Amino acid sequence: MSREAYKKVIQTLGPTMKESRLQRFHTLLDSRIKKTTIVLENTYDMRNTSACLRNLDSYGIQNVHLVEQANSARIDQAEGFSIWSTDLSPSSLMIDSPSFPRIRHDANDAADSPHPLVDKLALAFGNEHQGITPFLREQSDGLFLLPMVGMSQSFNLSVSVGITLTYLRVFGCLRPDLKEEDREELLFKWILSEMCNPHKTAKGLGVDHLF
Ligand SMILES: C[S@@+](CC[C@H](N)C(=O)[O-])C[C@H]1O[C@@H](n2cnc3c(N)ncnc32)[C@H](O)[C@@H]1O
Repeated sequence: MSREAYKKVIQTLGPTMKESRLQRFHTLLDSRIKKTTIVLENTYDMRNTSACLRNLDSYGIQNVHLVEQANSARIDQAEGFSIWSTDLSPSSLMIDSPSFPRIRHDANDAADSPHPLVDKLALAFGNEHQGITPFLREQSDGLFLLPMVGMSQSFNLSVSVGITLTYLRVFGCLRPDLKEEDREELLFKWILSEMCNPHKTAKGLGVDHLF
């Protein structure tokens, strides 16, 4: 889909929407993050999955990978993400260790950071019973763990996603980072999704292929 198509839909349909709704979309776009993504591997409980998605949305994470097929984690590496997976063994790195990576936001970050810096970070969470698969473990650049001191051996999945995002926020890793073309694409999708018949409406504007 071309940027011209996005612009056409935004310029034509945007003004037909309630001003407050459109403003809400712009406010959301101002806080969205693409440099951090979350991988949920083989989760089986839909309530857990939807609680994770709610956490991610609330922290502004734009993309999530729901992996069900073996070997799908390759996608993240192809997109230049450094993959860190959760692993509950004691040899994993604590998330608050100085060796856990931070996101490089601009050239100035590199100069004096005591932490390893990465451009993009994909954090993977495993199945409620088995944790992450051996394949994902092998694909990972590192394994990390959230501190626990109680009798339980693990957190609930959605709780662990929420805690991880809170750490990342405190670390300064969750900064809004959408480019202009990302904003246009999302606004295009969101505006069309408000229409009664998105496909027909888009077609009427000469836009054929939808998401
Ligand atoms: C209920 S736990 C699964 C426990 C499973 N027996 C294991 O060994 O991984 C579900 C998921 O939550 C995440 N999780 C739970 N506790 C965690 C912790 N302390 N540190 C990091 N991730 C955790 C992991 O992604 C885990 O796969």
